[in-house]
Amino acid sequence: MTDDPLPPPSPSPVSGRTAARTAAVIPAAGRGVRLGPGAPKALRALGGTPMLIHAIRAMADSRAVSLVVVVAPPDGAAEVKTLLDAHALPDRTDFLVVPGGESRQESVKLGLDALPDGYDIVLVHDAARPLVPVDTVDAVIEAVRDGAPAVVPALPLADTVKQVEPAAGPGEPEPVVATPDRSLLRAVQTPQGFDRATLVRAHGTVKDNVTDDASMVEQLGLTVVTVPGHEEAFKVTRPLDLVLAEAVLARRRLNDGF
Ligand code: C5P
Repeated sequence: MTDDPLPPPSPSPVSGRTAARTAAVIPAAGRGVRLGPGAPKALRALGGTPMLIHAIRAMADSRAVSLVVVVAPPDGAAEVKTLLDAHALPDRTDFLVVPGGESRQESVKLGLDALPDGYDIVLVHDAARPLVPVDTVDAVIEAVRDGAPAVVPALPLADTVKQVEPAAGPGEPEPVVATPDRSLLRAVQTPQGFDRATLVRAHGTVKDNVTDDASMVEQLGLTVVTVPGHEEAFKVTRPLDLVLAEAVLARRRLNDGF
């Protein structure tokens, strides 16, 4: 749905360039072992449709996104291409499928390497977050257009977080060493949005293993900013998340009058 479409994507303040077109890279090459045995996580069905297709539609729903690059399991690019052909996707969006790598970071880098010229803003969105609303996608893009080099959707934490030390041995308890001030902590989601040149530089420079792309930009010494995240942008990781995702879809269908 595009209830509140963004204005046309140019001119844009991003790096002073006149036409800041936006592409989304979707890393979808993970096996999803925490979900239990079965197909790669991105290919599992939600409401009868593969999670990856939901994630692609979530990006393509934004009028600002004109290209989606799907990073497939290394041996699954042909299967993913077939999947895309079999599902209705918006005509105004282009799609590319590339094989992924061993880690999420490597998969994102392979997706970035495949980006044609002419895209100045890049979103990186986990296939495992199939239900992110379009308003969240648009808010991320808007913040990059306003000049931020990196933007993350973020939510306050419901739980108190403890820092622990590794247990002394198997079966031993983990000692708690600190309780960070919860009011200063955020859980971050995707899509994360970037000025393309910044993200390319980050992937070319930072070699540590990281769990999100924004932290690579932080390591360059640049400021990453937040926009409000959304509870429906949660990551489908464990079996219970699938139950929740089905419930969210059922609620949407009810609300949409299907
Ligand atoms: O494993 P995790 O849930 O953190 O994965 C986040 C996203 O990264 C998923 O969409 C997954 O498919 C993707 N991924 C990838 N290549 C890998 C590992 C994970 O594209 N080698």
